[in-house]
Amino acid sequence: MKMNPWTLSVLLLLAGPLGADPDWHVEYPDSFCVVEGSTATIPCSFTHPARVKVGRVVWRFNYEHNVYNSSNVRANSRFLYLGDLIGNCALKIIKTVKRDTATYRFSFETNFGWWTGLNGVRVNVTGL
Ligand SMILES: *[C@@H]1O[C@H](CO)[C@@H](O)[C@H](O)[C@H]1NC(C)=O
Repeated sequence: MKMNPWTLSVLLLLAGPLGADPDWHVEYPDSFCVVEGSTATIPCSFTHPARVKVGRVVWRFNYEHNVYNSSNVRANSRFLYLGDLIGNCALKIIKTVKRDTATYRFSFETNFGWWTGLNGVRVNVTGL
């Protein structure tokens, strides 16, 4: 196949810094269902280059508000962080209610800035 220069430059761009970067990554399921009233754990892991230091982690509800912020942990929250600042970002939701249905996104702050797992994980809370 003969490629014109434009096609070639687009391919190079996709393979470059804008493509998937294996050093910076958040991994969680696309979506899952939880029965209302039960407790759910969102599995999550993140990676970053070894030289990077993680200072703060946040879980966000849709793009609206934080349900967890490691620098401002709320007492009695139903959202419990089971992860750490190294590579585990699992989040437990205690006694789910219908309004917990949302796309949750994990972000971590480093000395190089913030990184967010943009796809997010869709949690559907269903009735019995
Ligand atoms: C959750 O709900 C969304 C939107 O209604 C749907 O697209 C998705 O397939 C559902 N996920 C599961 C696991 O049922």
